[in-house]
Amino acid sequence: MINLSDRLLAMEESATIAMSRKSRELKAEGKDVISLSLGEPDFNTPDFIKAAAVEGMEQNYTKYTPVPGYDDLLQAICDKFKRDNGLSFEKNQIVVSTGAKQSIANVIMALINPGDEVVIPAPYWVSYVEIVKVAGGVPVIVSADIDADFKITGKQLEEHITSKTKLMMFSTPCNPTGSVYSKEELKDIADTLAKYPNIAAISDEIYEHINFVGKHESLAQFENVKDQVITINGVSKAWAMTGWRIGYIAAPVHIAAACTKVQGQFTSGTNSIAQRAAIAALKADVAVLDDMKAAFKGRRKLVLEALTAMPGVKVNEPEGAFYFFPDISSFFGKSYGNYTINTASDLSLYLLEEALVALVTGEAFGDPNCIRISYATSEEVLTEAMNRIANALEKLA
Ligand SMILES: Cc1ncc(COP(=O)(O)O)c(C=O)c1O
Repeated sequence: MINLSDRLLAMEESATIAMSRKSRELKAEGKDVISLSLGEPDFNTPDFIKAAAVEGMEQNYTKYTPVPGYDDLLQAICDKFKRDNGLSFEKNQIVVSTGAKQSIANVIMALINPGDEVVIPAPYWVSYVEIVKVAGGVPVIVSADIDADFKITGKQLEEHITSKTKLMMFSTPCNPTGSVYSKEELKDIADTLAKYPNIAAISDEIYEHINFVGKHESLAQFENVKDQVITINGVSKAWAMTGWRIGYIAAPVHIAAACTKVQGQFTSGTNSIAQRAAIAALKADVAVLDDMKAAFKGRRKLVLEALTAMPGVKVNEPEGAFYFFPDISSFFGKSYGNYTINTASDLSLYLLEEALVALVTGEAFGDPNCIRISYATSEEVLTEAMNRIANALEKLA
């Protein structure tokens, strides 16, 4: 028997992937499970993007690619930052990777020494903590609850900074809460970071285009932190391209070069054909996304009304992404049949088995009082799911 590495043994399996596996197993047994567990738009990749991929293949874009990405893709990303965010980057500040997940992993591998502390506001995206741990870093969690709209302040950040802090990382719009940092809130974070020029910040903006409150604001817009911020983005969420695996960073030149070095040894340049497709997505008019945004807005309203009407469920109004993160702690200590609910994990298992609705426990996102509901599915399915959840919760006493 070959022993696994300590590094691997310390790693948790992704809870979102574990939940979708469990619901697939129940479906395979013939159960009518509704899955609200995955972070993926239910739309298809637009045809003009697929056509660009076909054209790329026909033009024989099929060989190894430059490690940071094709030159014209790097240019398209610089143009996107200028157009959508008013940010100026040179091509040597951009690195394209196999999904935003690899972009994040590259940055962590490039920056974190064993023992370095990484401040992570909770609720956080599941993979942040695990990637930091694999690199030997120490996650330092700053909790923000539903009453703070799940957002932290510069003061809270500062309270968690020590001589070992190397990095802070967060997402806006946020997975799992849907919270969106305003320009003022980001400025507050930036002003704190600016006092510590040796601390970097990862601003994960992958949900940029799924924003219901207006203009997306980037942390990198603040001049006083422009040498500290690494912006993460990609085409997965906005362009319904989760399977194409294209994410990217915009970073200070030496950090981008370090990420290219890491990637050059781990995976090389990302898939050639997906890069051609990404160029088409990034050059397209973002108005193309209006229909998708309108659909998400309608679904958000439906789910918000349903959750608000459920006694014991505390919910905030998410301003972006496609998740709700209700606080369900009022059900702790209640039971039905063989089920006793003491944790958010107990409740999500109960809802899976009793209501046949798969969602993800908040424990995976660093908040044990909540569950995450993804509403990236049709209104018809969401209506049925909400009815099932309401019925199952009513039974708990
Ligand atoms: C906050 C956040 N960052 C990054 C990612 C990873 O994106 P990708 O699929 O491009 O790797 C996700 C995907 O769920 C996410 O929710």
